[in-house]
Amino acid sequence: MERPTWAGPEIDVDKPSAARIYDAHLGGFHNFQVDREAAAKIVAFMPELPEIMRANRSFLRRAVHHLAGEGITQFLDLGSGIPTVGNVHEIAWKANPDCRIVYVDSDPIAVSHSRTILTGLDRATAIRADLRRPQEILAHEETQRLLDFSQPVAVLMFAVLHFVPDSDDPRAIVREYLDATVPGSCLAISHASLEGPEPERAEDATNQFRRSVTDFSMRTRAEITALFDGLELIDPGVVYLPQWRPDPGDEIGDAQRTSTFAGVARKRG
Ligand SMILES: C[S@@+](CC[C@H](N)C(=O)[O-])C[C@H]1O[C@@H](n2cnc3c(N)ncnc32)[C@H](O)[C@@H]1O
Repeated sequence: MERPTWAGPEIDVDKPSAARIYDAHLGGFHNFQVDREAAAKIVAFMPELPEIMRANRSFLRRAVHHLAGEGITQFLDLGSGIPTVGNVHEIAWKANPDCRIVYVDSDPIAVSHSRTILTGLDRATAIRADLRRPQEILAHEETQRLLDFSQPVAVLMFAVLHFVPDSDDPRAIVREYLDATVPGSCLAISHASLEGPEPERAEDATNQFRRSVTDFSMRTRAEITALFDGLELIDPGVVYLPQWRPDPGDEIGDAQRTSTFAGVARKRG
């Protein structure tokens, strides 16, 4: 297929990517035919998927807004994705323009597009790295330049840990990031689960995703809650996306339909 100017020669335009499929589901423009086809195949099994992704973005907005309102000024956004409407820096800066944000993604288009929209802004940056290598990210010169680990940091892992298989030990990865932070730091996670209303259908969609894109590990609510071990969960705990501190007047509807859990926790003093 034809290569758009924003896709460098290192991008395989014939292979779907999780970041670009997510962008396609959200109605973004940084995706190719191959991503839209993969997205359509997955949606055939799970028509509510675009709705779930919008609910995930809405949770991201509420969580970052809440954290910034609680005085957090530093954000490490792991698996940040292709920028779309309502990015972490925009939400955080609305609350406090002094916030600093480091975006991390393994996808080259997510990182190059993030860098483009951050051009000229010195309090946010984007680095290309694999979140399964925490020490590399924590020691990265851009992370060190922007984040002061003697002060609280919010570690954000929105809709990304289901790309990390059990064999890579996601709990140990999360712990490694939190071990680098001081008390008062926070962890926010959203994570797909099979505990929705129709687990068989979700399993079919997962298998389709595995066949066409990459590995995907749904986890139970108990497994997702265990990712917060040792931290103090902020009210209301680990709940379905729309149930996490909805805005006044929000329609929660059938929250279980999102089959995705969300939670935010704080490291105790
Ligand atoms: C579904 S998107 C979520 C984007 C954003 N966090 C959100 O919730 O809107 C998942 C992102 O995680 C990235 N990703 C997957 N595995 C990763 C890894 N091991 N290291 C870094 N990024 C990863 C993908 O490239 C993709 O951009």
